[in-house]
Amino acid sequence: MIDRNDKLWWQRAVFYQVYPRSFADSDGDGVGDLRGIETRLDYLVELGIDAMWISPFFKSPMKDFGYDISDYRAVDPLFGTLDDFTSLLEAAHERGLRVVVDLVVNHSSDEHPWFIEARSSKSARTHDWYIWKPMSGKKPPNNWVSLFEQRSAWYPNEATGEWYLATFTRNQPEFNWRNPELRAAIYDEARFWLDLGADGYRMDVATAYIKDDEFRSNPRSLTMNPDLFQHHIYDRNRPEVHEIFREFRALADSYGDRVLIGETHGRDAQLAASCHGNDKDELHMAFNFDFLFRPWSARSFRESADRWYSLLPEGAWPNFTLSNHDQKRHYARYRSGAWTEPRARVAAAMLLCLRGTPFLYYGEELGMDCRELPRSKLRDPLGIATWPLRYGRDPERTPMQWDASENAGFSSAEPWLPVNPDYRERNVASQQSDPESLLRWYTKLLALRRTESALQTGALSWLDAPSDVMAWSRTAGTTRIDVYLNCSPRKPEVAVAPGRVLLGSDAGAGDGIVAGQRRLRPYEVLIMQRQ
Ligand code: NOJ
Ligand code: MG
Repeated sequence: MIDRNDKLWWQRAVFYQVYPRSFADSDGDGVGDLRGIETRLDYLVELGIDAMWISPFFKSPMKDFGYDISDYRAVDPLFGTLDDFTSLLEAAHERGLRVVVDLVVNHSSDEHPWFIEARSSKSARTHDWYIWKPMSGKKPPNNWVSLFEQRSAWYPNEATGEWYLATFTRNQPEFNWRNPELRAAIYDEARFWLDLGADGYRMDVATAYIKDDEFRSNPRSLTMNPDLFQHHIYDRNRPEVHEIFREFRALADSYGDRVLIGETHGRDAQLAASCHGNDKDELHMAFNFDFLFRPWSARSFRESADRWYSLLPEGAWPNFTLSNHDQKRHYARYRSGAWTEPRARVAAAMLLCLRGTPFLYYGEELGMDCRELPRSKLRDPLGIATWPLRYGRDPERTPMQWDASENAGFSSAEPWLPVNPDYRERNVASQQSDPESLLRWYTKLLALRRTESALQTGALSWLDAPSDVMAWSRTAGTTRIDVYLNCSPRKPEVAVAPGRVLLGSDAGAGDGIVAGQRRLRPYEVLIMQRQ
């Protein structure tokens, strides 16, 4: 059971992101669904996670696979019913698992009744809930871009003679958050899932809610992806967004134990840090995406974590993530021939032993891979628009690999995206029965983290180590845990303080007392409790 009086559960928790289309299909239509997730809850419990974040399962025309919502209070029939959700929530809570859902309120679907009404006439009740500019001629009002269509973000609306704004696909018109009625309406929608008992929200592109009041064009930048040669300072990341975060925080706090996790639009940790507020009055957490763009290197990882810790305002709680549904999986990003698997082990230890809430992405515990798909199999609008330069986000969204049976045990029908070709060897069933598997490694790390509060909330201090090694201590009370990650195929020597091995990736590590100079094996992970 979950404890509703536990207000800081999210600081100790490990989150697991479920992309519902791809996790488990219960009704044989090739698309994952809520009942499918419920049938796999025991797997998540055994793995040892504490909370899941489920990507959108709400009513949607699926132009952006659920990130285009046409009814915020309804479950899309593809995913099941509202009863399926309450049943899943209850079953999760019974097992002590929290459930966070996705809140997509920078934009709605163009099929949302609010937009249908809004676009019908300038005097419609909801007209000002979206963003409009008068249309004179063919020239759009400024240079803002639709990232998933690689063109201007302004689309004509004949009925009113205006442009509407959509910076993802044209089917995702953006809300006018400066309108107080729109705000109130969104807060009402947000209460709906919290009233049902959901444990919080992951807030889609939260820093994009408010646009520049003068609609200035973005300045040019030299980077192509995903910014299309622009610095997004006017269509996103405006200072007024913090007022909205404070309102959301007050709403969440009125429920006591619910969490808000913001997605920022941009890679910079500074932007994410700024979303926490100075007095814990904004978001509980904002995703730090820096690891998603870091090369494999002990030095770079440490620099990234260090910078993040120093940017966060006093009292704010860090978080880390290596993979999600928008980026190439880290198993594939850090591919390095025979060292790919050892690297995945090091990455898992890093994510689960640093100070901050870890977010895992479904299948990373198996080392699920990303493969380029043939053009005919692409489904992601971004992938289709940018093919063959990029393959979009389908490769990281392939079905969960449960077993070696047809369709990887994900579905009895052909899945909506092809299963990775390696599923016969790489799947939950085979890794559960192999004590040396990556899955078992994640399970051990998660179990250790759960028993050692120093790994959850303990203070962190870096240890001196050679440049290939990332090393730190976590301390809580009198317990001190030292973590050594050899991020290289070399055998650097480290000075180990006397202690007992709690967990090591190397069979030779044993569990005895270790002290003094020690030569680490390639990609060795050593987690020790100080004597
Ligand atoms: C960010 C989400 O993570 C992504 O999947 C989605 O396409 C965009 N926001 C638009 O909602
Ligand atoms: Mg289904």
